[in-house]
Amino acid sequence: MTYVVDENCIKCKLMDCVEVCPVDCFYEGENMLVIHPEECIDCGVCEPECPIEAIHPDTEDNMEKWVELNKVYADKWPNINEKKPPPSDSKEWENVENKFEKYFSDKPGK
Ligand code: SF4
Ligand code: F3S
Repeated sequence: MTYVVDENCIKCKLMDCVEVCPVDCFYEGENMLVIHPEECIDCGVCEPECPIEAIHPDTEDNMEKWVELNKVYADKWPNINEKKPPPSDSKEWENVENKFEKYFSDKPGK
């Protein structure tokens, strides 16, 4: 089992989650974070820290796509273990649907 980040994170990228992970298994893309499924110890601490509910256990329905995405990009993107300032327009992207198709960036974070 693992926890994973889903498309709610895209362009919101609040980063409250990285501060609490005991094993530092978050990885940073240009406009979202992912969790490394093999490094996550399933502690569940990060799930309530995300203000917009972008983190879920893979035991929920329809999570396969997000597990795969987290796995692929955790291997490509740099590790992040400290919160940075979120994007200035972060708030505008909360609750926007289907962000993955239109806005997902495969570029790494800086
Ligand atoms: Fe880190 Fe625990 Fe969240 Fe996994 S569930 S990403 S180990 S805080
Ligand atoms: Fe994303 Fe939520 Fe973390 S918006 S960066 S999963 S706190």
